[in-house]
Amino acid sequence: MIKFDFETYNHIKLDNYDLSNIIERFKHDNNKTGWYYINHDTQLIKKYAYEIRNNADIFLIIGIGGSSIGAQAVISALSPYYNNSKPEIIFVGETLSSDYIVDLIEHIEGKSVYLNVISKSGNTLETLITFDIFLNYLKNNFLDYKKRVFVTTNDTDGELLNISKKEGFRNMVVPDNIGGRFSVLSCVGLLPIAVANIDIDKILTGSEKAKENLEQIFKYTIIRNKMFESNKIVESFDIYEPKLFMFTEWIKQIFAESQGKENKGILPISTINTRDLHSLGQFYQEGSQIMFSTTIFAHSKQNLYIEKYNKSLNQINKIVMNSVAEAHFEKFNTNIIELDAINEENVGYLILFFEISSMLGSYLLGVNYFDEPGVIKYKNIINCKLNN
Ligand code: PA5
Repeated sequence: MIKFDFETYNHIKLDNYDLSNIIERFKHDNNKTGWYYINHDTQLIKKYAYEIRNNADIFLIIGIGGSSIGAQAVISALSPYYNNSKPEIIFVGETLSSDYIVDLIEHIEGKSVYLNVISKSGNTLETLITFDIFLNYLKNNFLDYKKRVFVTTNDTDGELLNISKKEGFRNMVVPDNIGGRFSVLSCVGLLPIAVANIDIDKILTGSEKAKENLEQIFKYTIIRNKMFESNKIVESFDIYEPKLFMFTEWIKQIFAESQGKENKGILPISTINTRDLHSLGQFYQEGSQIMFSTTIFAHSKQNLYIEKYNKSLNQINKIVMNSVAEAHFEKFNTNIIELDAINEENVGYLILFFEISSMLGSYLLGVNYFDEPGVIKYKNIINCKLNN
């Protein structure tokens, strides 16, 4: 269960929060709606996941941005802090550091390695370089390397698709109308998540529930829009359970890459509490007044008793969260999203919550949430330099 509190620590009083007209417009935007109407046929994903889980010690997921962050967010949120589960899942392709790659090769030496390379375009520099390195590693170490590679890309063009066809690897298709950062609930995110032994059906059930409760999404979206209009241009996503850190990274992407264009948008940042209360907290309380917060508070599964205060640690954590919101209230607003637990349904729900809000907010801002022209600019410069 998730509780939304957009009132207690909010100076904005909403009179009208109906954005269903935008939802209707969006539904006719056929080339962008794939993530909302995802075909939930998960049989093939489960079959591949079963095979990988039974045969791999190491499962490498090669991808970047929308092809990687979503699965990382879900897996870290739903896994224990420390675990030795098999296969070990390692996300690669987010850095061009040689040291990192060399250390990783040393780490996987002698183990059974499977990999999933993911790129919607099939042309991403980091992904292709990393894939080339690990494909060679597999070729040099495993006679049956072909069955160890799973390719997730589009079905029309790109370098990755060409390699895959030439080698005869098993393919999964990212549909055109699912944007990279909106793809976590497609084969892009679901195969890695299923390999982590997480129940993908429950995640999908949770995501469907978000669509049935649009009122809270409308409220949140309108509050963000009002914040932007009053020059509150930084939103901090605050967490009190560190395993949600990658989830805030995913939220940052879904807003920054979708809305940060045409000199508009709110800069999303993340705050891990209580750690950051002892560093960033000073700025939040007394620094430049450009921000507001959205707190995601999740109740821990475990509940330690702290004798000194005659309270559970979870209660103390929540008292801190409320005290911080109260202290900040004189300067800025805090939206509170409270999860009774970090479980599959709640995580699935929040994914759709933020995806829909990002889409609606983009319509309100008048920007195209499906493209990323700023990212394309630097890629073109790199390509010129690399090919000269
Ligand atoms: O959301 C997006 O579109 C981007 O973040 C992409 O996912 C990222 O650039 C990786 O692209 P690709 O999947 O084509 O390799």
